[in-house]
Amino acid sequence: MNRFDELAKIWDEAPYRVENTKKIGQAIVENVPLSKNWKVLDFGVGTGLLTFYIQPYVKAIDAVDNSQGMLEKLKEKAESANVLTINPILKDLEKDDLGENEYDAIISSMTLHHIKDITSFLKKLYKTLKKGGYLAIADLEKEDGDFHSDNDGVYHFGFSKEELENYFKEAGFENFKFLIVNKIEKNNKEYPVFLAIGKK
Ligand SMILES: C[S@@+](CC[C@H](N)C(=O)[O-])C[C@H]1O[C@@H](n2cnc3c(N)ncnc32)[C@H](O)[C@@H]1O
Repeated sequence: MNRFDELAKIWDEAPYRVENTKKIGQAIVENVPLSKNWKVLDFGVGTGLLTFYIQPYVKAIDAVDNSQGMLEKLKEKAESANVLTINPILKDLEKDDLGENEYDAIISSMTLHHIKDITSFLKKLYKTLKKGGYLAIADLEKEDGDFHSDNDGVYHFGFSKEELENYFKEAGFENFKFLIVNKIEKNNKEYPVFLAIGKK
């Protein structure tokens, strides 16, 4: 059992999370030419807050997470909304293979900071994107390490535009774009949330 299994039960109850993924979803819709023919990967999908926002614009979404609890919540939500185009998949993003030339787009919200080795992970994402496909990742901009009350499993205290651009380029992505799409208010501070976009 990982800590996200427990958190899954109350994940959607925090209004800032719902609001944040809505703003990320809006920015993706505005900046990525989503199509009803597209097969999409949402990595670190959680309970699907971003996936449910994007799902009406595409054909299908592979919803990957390594927390059984998160995926169960996602399945419950999909069943009660009668949504058949979201496929929950239990995988460890760092250890497991994600295939080759599988996806038209890859999206993600607030998960990259949980990935230890960003260089090899982005190369894995590049491999599983189709030529011309889009990568759109949202996460925290560089922070002091006080965003999470527990930093267990947090391998990066956010990311700067410069370091992300380097990671994207190193993996082979082109047309790098970096937008601030939200500011989360917490601990009497504002934590900017970016959306970084690249193209294969
Ligand atoms: C902060 S949550 C974000 C969830 C969701 N994307 C959202 O914005 O509400 C991070 C998610 O990444 C998942 N995760 C973390 N490390 C992972 C790994 N190595 N493989 C697969 N999933 C992982 C966690 O289980 C959790 O659901």
